[in-house]
Amino acid sequence: MTRHDLTSTHCVHAGTGPCDVRHAITTAIVHSAPFTFASTQEVLDYVEGRSDRRQPEYGRMGNPTVTRVEERLAAIEGTERAQLFASGMAAVTTLLLAYLKSGDHLILTSDCYKRTRDFGGEFLARFGIRASLVPPTVEAIEQAIRPETRMILTEVPSNPYLYVVDVGRLAQLGRDRGVLTVIDSTFATPVNLRPLEWGADLAIHSATKYLGGHNDLIAGVLAGRAELVQPVSDLLMTLGGVCDPTTAFLLDRGLKTLGVRVEKQNAAGLEVARFLEAHPRIREVFYPGLASHPQHGIARRLMSGFGGVVTFLVDGGFEETAEFVDRLSIPRIAPSLGGVEALVEQPAVMSFWDLPRHERERLGMYDNLVRLSLGIEEADDILADLDQALQVSRTSHPEKAGTQHG
Ligand SMILES: Cc1ncc(COP(=O)(O)O)c(C=O)c1O
Repeated sequence: MTRHDLTSTHCVHAGTGPCDVRHAITTAIVHSAPFTFASTQEVLDYVEGRSDRRQPEYGRMGNPTVTRVEERLAAIEGTERAQLFASGMAAVTTLLLAYLKSGDHLILTSDCYKRTRDFGGEFLARFGIRASLVPPTVEAIEQAIRPETRMILTEVPSNPYLYVVDVGRLAQLGRDRGVLTVIDSTFATPVNLRPLEWGADLAIHSATKYLGGHNDLIAGVLAGRAELVQPVSDLLMTLGGVCDPTTAFLLDRGLKTLGVRVEKQNAAGLEVARFLEAHPRIREVFYPGLASHPQHGIARRLMSGFGGVVTFLVDGGFEETAEFVDRLSIPRIAPSLGGVEALVEQPAVMSFWDLPRHERERLGMYDNLVRLSLGIEEADDILADLDQALQVSRTSHPEKAGTQHG
């Protein structure tokens, strides 16, 4: 080859044979928008369903890295099929749009991620889909079922009060009444609870949280029987909120340590919840592993661990609570959960500040409510940090600082 042969054509095509990644221990990241065919006949065989080729023609329809991680997620959930999405919200919205049509009714439970509630409860009304928001118990859900109810979507444990609906009874109710049951088990992780094994139809996760586990990616998962996931995958190919290969790789890497991370977070969660429950400056603690939790019995039956999130009410108003949060040195103030770094937030400020106080309180978002998500730091270090932050002398009077609850 002379210097002149180095044309742009050569730069693009020289030496490009198939890349053999079979012997790598890690999942290969394949960045390719289109996927090629050797001939028109190969295209015809593929589109007419005669070939055993699995790779679709275009990255929005499927990507080898993403597919591999989906297969691992399905195996982890103990089911046939998992579909990855660009975010947990892409999973939730694509699922609801795939299954619901004008005239249908959806049941959501009151203690749930705000944007899920906003989309299901308000946005879908534009398309003639009605929603009921009910307390997270099987009894309340059963009462809300109407002839046109098509789906029940609930979080287990719920956000931020960590209620635990009896998934087995709920799934049975769904089967009896012909209603699809979907469990958002982001807070549980498949390590602590596998809703499909209790009979739920579909499980959904914000993989941004424990599954990824390192606060460095945004992704969502839907898992269940292939025939139930397929309609959602089909719509995803049109709506387009797909997971990209690098994110899938990061998720794959995170999944390898899911078990050890969650075990540590479960242990720390229980220790922190017990410590806070005994602390004089804490009004009330919500943690499914505590005997005082209203659904502790259900949680013990369903879950092998109670997770790394602890929610509690500080004895004081807005200012004392903010001062406590600000005094913490290990947990950082941020809205997520489930990563290796501990995070803390006052939900009233982080997600509900746009609402007037009475409206926030109606939703349970009291000014003195705190949600702590444990990372993999040592529990003793977290306890010492909580203790020093709670030693703080009061800077303001509760009546000045706003309503407190508990
Ligand atoms: C329970 C639950 N489901 C879904 C979501 C949405 O997930 P994402 O942030 O990955 O879009 C969240 C986000 O916080 C969540 O907490």
